[in-house]
Amino acid sequence: MTPHVVHTRAELRAALDAPPRPGRRAVVMTMGALHEGHLALVRAARERADQVVVTIFVNPLQFGPTEDLARYPRDLAADVALLATAGADVVFAPDVDEVYRGEAVVRVSAGRLGERLEGAHRPGHFDGVLTVVLKLLHLVAPDVAVFGQKDAQQLAAVRRMVHDLDVPVEI
Ligand code: PAF
Repeated sequence: MTPHVVHTRAELRAALDAPPRPGRRAVVMTMGALHEGHLALVRAARERADQVVVTIFVNPLQFGPTEDLARYPRDLAADVALLATAGADVVFAPDVDEVYRGEAVVRVSAGRLGERLEGAHRPGHFDGVLTVVLKLLHLVAPDVAVFGQKDAQQLAAVRRMVHDLDVPVEI
């Protein structure tokens, strides 16, 4: 079934609240350019929840000055077509203003977790990841969030944020 695609916070809220009210809600966060790995996460989310929300947002905060944000691939129609096969109910595809509403002055710090391995040569990358992950968790309000294990440092940082900041979600 084709997922319900929304772009604003208000549309997301309406889609999440639309009857029938689901039991558990899962989120899978992505930056689009979806492939089989993402679809596997959506299927895993489907097994754990009654309503599956996929976010598609290319997050400028996690790109460094030498990384080409503008050239990151974006094809929403192709992504939505793939998600229809994997069982997503709602796709939240906001633009940058909708997410950040101006400058992101306050950010989440990954602390020492963001300074080693990949973070050692991408300063600020994991702060940007955690900031958007926390915002999307607040906006979607899921019971469970499903992340790939391929990016092990990201997963560890998300788990730590959820623990340290008492975010009420299962990872
Ligand atoms: O893994 C990704 O695609 C991104 O880092 C994420 C978690 C969607 C945050 O922008």
